[in-house]
Parts: sequence; C-alpha cells; structure tokens
Amino acid sequence: MRGRLFIALAVGLTIAWPSAASAQTNLQLEALKRLKNLDLESNPALKKIVLKHLEASRGKPAFVEIVRDFKLNGHEAELIRFAQAHPNDSTGVEAIRLALTEPGLKLVADAVNGTDPNAALATTEALANAQSPKTEPILLGAVVDNTKPLALRIVAVNGLAKAKTGARALLAEAKAGRLPADLNFAVGNAMRGVRWKNLRAQATKLFPPPQGLGQALPPLAELVAMKGDIANGEKVFFRPQSTCATCHQVNGRGIDFGPKLSGIGTKLGKEALYLSVLDPNAGIPFGYEAWLLKTKNSGEALGIITSQTDDEVTLKLPGGITITHNTADIVSRAQLPTSIMPPGLQATMTPQDLVDMIAYLHSLKQAKP
Ligand code: HEC
Repeated sequence: MRGRLFIALAVGLTIAWPSAASAQTNLQLEALKRLKNLDLESNPALKKIVLKHLEASRGKPAFVEIVRDFKLNGHEAELIRFAQAHPNDSTGVEAIRLALTEPGLKLVADAVNGTDPNAALATTEALANAQSPKTEPILLGAVVDNTKPLALRIVAVNGLAKAKTGARALLAEAKAGRLPADLNFAVGNAMRGVRWKNLRAQATKLFPPPQGLGQALPPLAELVAMKGDIANGEKVFFRPQSTCATCHQVNGRGIDFGPKLSGIGTKLGKEALYLSVLDPNAGIPFGYEAWLLKTKNSGEALGIITSQTDDEVTLKLPGGITITHNTADIVSRAQLPTSIMPPGLQATMTPQDLVDMIAYLHSLKQAKP
C-alpha cells in the first residue's frame, strides 16, 4: 500500500509540475528512492519518470545514484564519463564500479588505450580506485606497456597493489622479467608496503629497499611525513659527497648542468622531490633527456642536447661544459631511457640527512634576485 502511495505521489508530482523547480525535483527523487525495490519493467509509468530524472542528472552524482538504486542497465558510457571527471572521489569510484559490465569493460579498456591522454589517465585512476578484480587485466596491460606515460603506469601499479590478486599478478610479472625497468622503484615501493605478509616478503627480496647511509630507508609515505631541518638540509645538499651541486645550481651557487633548483619547491611536492632523488629515471623533465653522441674524432659523449640545427649539435656535459659538434662528424646519436642523474645518491646520507635535504629543497620557493 505504502509503495502505491509513493508511486501516486511521484507520478502526481511529474504531471502537476512538468518543468519542476529543483526543490520539487529533489522531492521527486526522494520519493523515487524509496521505491527502489520495485520492478521498473512492470511499472512503465514509473520507469518513464526514473529515466526522465536520469536524463536530467547527466554529469551529476544523482545520475550514479539513480543507476545504482534502480539497477539500470546500459548506461556504462555515461558512468565512465562521470568517473573520468571524478576519478578520485567516492561517487566517481562508484560510477566506475557500476560500469564494469562486459560492454563497460570494453569501453574502459578503449579509454585506457586510446589517444586522449587525459581520458586515459583519468580512467586508469578510476580503475585503480575501484579495487575490483575485473580491472586487473586492464591495469596489468597498462603497466607492461612502456609506450604509455610513466605517470599512468605508476597509477596502475598502485591500483593493482591494493588487492591481493593484483599484488600477486604484479609480483608474477616482476619474476618473469616483464616489468619495464623504469617501474622498479614504484613497484618496489608499492609492494613492500602491501598488507599480505608473504607477498611483502617476496617483494622485499625482489626489490630491496633503497639504502640510506648504513641503513634501509623508511617507506616513502613515512619519509614524506618526517620533519626536516632546513639549515642542515642546505649543508647536506652542498656537501661534496652528495655531489648535487656538481650538477645543480641554487640561486647561482653550484654548477649549471641539470635543471636549476632555485624554485623547485614550487614545482615539486615533497613526494615528487623524494622520487627525483630515489628514482631519477622516472619522470625526466623535458629538455633534460640523456643523449649519447658518437663522433668520428672524440668517440662517445653523454650529455644533454641544448641546441641542434642541420649543421650542428650542442651537447652540455656533466660539469657544465658545452661542446658543439658538426653534424658531419656525428656517427650516431641516441636518446637513453635513463637519466644522467645517478640513482642511489641517498646512500651518501643518513635517512635524517635525506629528510633534511628534501625539506631544504621544498623550502626553495623562488629564485632569489
Ligand atoms: C650527474 C649530474 C647530477 C647529479 C650529481 C645530481 N643531479 Fe639531479 N638531476 C640531473 C639531471 C640531468 C636532471 C634532469 C633529469 C632527471 O630528472 O633525471 C636532474 C633532476 C633533478 C631534480 C628534478 C628537477 C626537476 O625540475 O624536475 C631534482 C629535485 C634533483 N635532480 C635533485 C638532485 C639532488 C638532491 C642531488 C644530490 C643528491 C642531485 N640532483 C644530483 C643531474 C644530476
């Protein structure tokens, strides 16, 4: 009886106010929600109302709620669009979970593998948050495809590591040697922190934690939360054994080879700063890629190409020296997948010195005049 009353109410509202103001629309939705256990297929009038509300709710959280509450089928494309717009909030995650039907999975895979980089990343983020075994083949496919951007593949790694089956699959890829090397750090970092003891132990063997001076570093999340002493951090950065200043300048101090770090605290957050030191190969900024030139006279040179024309290529070498080669003398030039910044420099400092140095870099908000 109660159900009928609500149907009457809902239908009545729609008929009485065809262009309902938002308060009335909300009232209708509320009434509709109480009817959610009704079978829409045997209530065509009600179904019409629900679909009208659904149409009016495109792009809004209500769309996801209506699909969920009335168990509607066939709305995957719109759910995926919603999830792409809100990949990291709970309604967006609910949207992607509702979209993981057979046709939906195909659409999702197309988005992850498609040509729109923003849609690919947002879809991967939503999938990584969905924590559903159904997403694992797509996420795993993205992880091993090194034509995809590193940032997207790291999101996929972290998504897989959240579920036991995903973590196990990642470990299997690593053991089979199928993980691209630029993911070593991200996979190690995610897998050494998983909840499952046995998987964690295997991961720690496969990906030993980065070493600080004399001791293993705490996990990245812990490092980020630690407090650092900026004044000591400056000393650590400029101390010869750290080698940073042989390649980086801060406010004119140090050698100009790698990116200047005077305003680096504005560009990179703490986590990204740690990653630049612990895993320099991940995320090399544009223009600082490593090139190996082979020339007729001087053999091989490794550096950063600062300019090139048809006739000449200028290479900046570690130490800051610049050498210009005639194209005619160049036998070959190849871009390396790795950074010129060496990995493992954190081994020259204690974990606390590293924390201090990152606090120092984080404090560098703009170049001093
Ligand atoms: C042999 C040269 C070299 C040394 C030594 C070196 N770096 Fe680098 N660094 C680079 C190059 C080249 C890049 C750009 C490519 C990359 O990101 O790997 C870079 C990138 C960075 C970045 C990211 C900059 C950006 O704009 O994204 C940070 C931060 C950084 N280095 C900090 C350090 C610190 C701290 C040390 C010392 C512990 C250090 N570097 C030692 C060459 C070096």
